[in-house]
Amino acid sequence: MKLAERTTKIAPPGTSRMRTIANELKEQGAHVINFAAGELDVDTLDIVKEGARQAIDKGRNIYTPALGTPALRKQLAALVSRHTGTDYAQGEVGLTAGAKQALYNAAMVLLDPDDEVIIPNPYWVTFPTQVELAGARPVFVETRPHGYKLLASVVEEAITPKTKVIIINSPNNPTGVMYDAAELAKIAALALAKDIWIVFDECYASLVRSGHRHEHLLALEPRLKDRLVIVNSFSKSHALTGWRLGYVAAPAPVVKAMENLQGHTTSNPSSVAQYAISHALEHDDGQFIARVNTMLDERLRRALAIVARMPAVTVAPAQGAFYLFLDVSAHLGKSLDGTTVADVDQFCELALRSAQIALVSGAAFGDPTSVRISYAISTDDVVEGLERLLTLLERLR
Ligand SMILES: Cc1ncc(COP(=O)(O)O)c(C=O)c1O
Repeated sequence: MKLAERTTKIAPPGTSRMRTIANELKEQGAHVINFAAGELDVDTLDIVKEGARQAIDKGRNIYTPALGTPALRKQLAALVSRHTGTDYAQGEVGLTAGAKQALYNAAMVLLDPDDEVIIPNPYWVTFPTQVELAGARPVFVETRPHGYKLLASVVEEAITPKTKVIIINSPNNPTGVMYDAAELAKIAALALAKDIWIVFDECYASLVRSGHRHEHLLALEPRLKDRLVIVNSFSKSHALTGWRLGYVAAPAPVVKAMENLQGHTTSNPSSVAQYAISHALEHDDGQFIARVNTMLDERLRRALAIVARMPAVTVAPAQGAFYLFLDVSAHLGKSLDGTTVADVDQFCELALRSAQIALVSGAAFGDPTSVRISYAISTDDVVEGLERLLTLLERLR
């Protein structure tokens, strides 16, 4: 069967084999601890549900404009203006089916074949895939040698006349790192000087660990507005990943092009989700996200105490989101009961089979030395799962 060439650029989700094994183990009665999830383990806010119920009762079942209702776009413009400290108008923002669609729209409206896109490595795997789908070329820059921080000097070295976009994701998936304000300011200045777009994925902006601060690029360099595509989402901030609601803020011609594209692809994101979020934005008192962050701070504290006891394991600075990125490279090549762990994928398979813990291999994020752990699962599971990992590491010879 001959499918389109572009299908070769779309790999299956890296976790599908692990999910199959995890399901087999669960069927056999094992208590599998799932560190692989990319979402909060709490229910969404009551005001979101209330807004959705009202929308359903009022029969809000029909199409809305492609980038959302005018009322919600107005609220969104106010939200983005507050968040960035820079004025955004209704025509400079739009609603999408999750941050993922906002990123896809950005790739489709900004990139031509042969354009280059700078992507910091480790990266969220969807970034390079979408760039390739647009016919452009990902150019990876390493953060690992610099404590997983993105340095402006490293970005500058990668810039060529073909560079069209730099993608920045902070707080970062998979590392949990938040990039330094001083470096971000320098990268913004570089983008301005060289006429390069920045796509700023800040969908974990509201999930920041105690003692850290999310720095907005625009607060650091307000002139960047003309070269900036902001991507954000209600998925993580309101614990509603399944409702599919994200957004974009960008110069009006970019947003208009996205509106045209979205009008021919998916049309509007779910109308019920839009009305629900509109209601939530009106009534949110900020308590929900504060509670979530307090809970995640405590889980992180417990998690790091166990990680500190793990032999020859280092961890990226866990400053935001809900991920720990553990470098297990010192253990690759070792064996357990005759099974040798040649690479990080095999390490994850061994962890699942012998310790019943599901990790995500760093290979999926461009870093074959590490594993990603989500601590957005129950505190008991975080503790028990990491103790199991510690025991496994101690048994490897
Ligand atoms: C860095 C990053 N960007 C975007 C997304 C997509 O989020 P959404 O559910 O809003 O599409 C995710 C989801 O995990 C993510 O980790």
